[in-house]
Amino acid sequence: MKLTNVSENELMLIRTYLYEQTGLAFVGSQWHFFKKRIIKRIEESKFSSIREYISFLKFDPRGKQELKDLYNLLTVNETYFFREKPQLEALVNIVLPEMIETKLSEKTNMKSIRIWSAASSNGSEPYSIAILLKEKGLLNKGVTFNIYGTDINTDVINSARAGFFSEPDLRNTPPELKEKYFTKKGNFYEINEEIKKMVSFSIVNLFSKTQTATLKNMDIIFCRNVLIYFDIESKKIVAKNLYDNLVPNGYLFLGMSDTLFKVTNLFLLKPLKGVMVYRKPGGGK
Ligand SMILES: C[S@@+](CC[C@H](N)C(=O)[O-])C[C@H]1O[C@@H](n2cnc3c(N)ncnc32)[C@H](O)[C@@H]1O
Repeated sequence: MKLTNVSENELMLIRTYLYEQTGLAFVGSQWHFFKKRIIKRIEESKFSSIREYISFLKFDPRGKQELKDLYNLLTVNETYFFREKPQLEALVNIVLPEMIETKLSEKTNMKSIRIWSAASSNGSEPYSIAILLKEKGLLNKGVTFNIYGTDINTDVINSARAGFFSEPDLRNTPPELKEKYFTKKGNFYEINEEIKKMVSFSIVNLFSKTQTATLKNMDIIFCRNVLIYFDIESKKIVAKNLYDNLVPNGYLFLGMSDTLFKVTNLFLLKPLKGVMVYRKPGGGK
């Protein structure tokens, strides 16, 4: 049903509610995107007013599911394999060889490296990491790798688990890697089983302390191209959640255009051959 008298104030109430749950701010050009999608959602539903929809969202037992559907509708999931490659190269050429050496020199039986792609979208990012680990021969150095991919959006996590990708997802993938690690099925490319098995996916809201706490003791976190959707207050909360889940001396990779400037000074900024990465100080709790 077409909505008449769309009130900006009522739309802002929905935005505030979502903001409280996710930290996503929907400001600037994102506000227009938000409005368009919410109005369409309400018009396609049984609700005849925004007020009625808000009350359903907040107070009806089915509102929780609607909220999850809104995450799926309102998050921007753009991603592709081997995005921002210099960072991936810094990971496999500098960070991991050093980390493997350190782990091998430690007197512990548990020699594993835990990598978390926080906001992984459809899995292109953690699967790219898995492929590079294999390509660089890092999987047979005596250290086990655990790779986790998480996102707030259930659609992209289901898609990541299924492991099917489109041509645009592979636009930055060298032809030889495409040939080696994917099988063409109709219009899609299925990732090889061996790589698929290397990544575990789950739903995690980065804004939630309890949900992020399920990913403890990470050696490396990738959190790329998502901070831009948060305001400064939400960035602070997300940065602290990431910090709490990194081991001392652990690495945090942000997107090339993301920054923690004016957000937190919990991390040390470290240049690695042209790539800036954040590090949790040694001994940091
Ligand atoms: C633009 S994609 C980036 C994907 C990948 N990291 C990359 O750089 O290619 C941003 C992802 O962040 C996710 N996201 C947004 N808000 C989130 C939140 N509060 N918690 C977890 N994931 C979130 C979105 O669902 C989306 O899949």
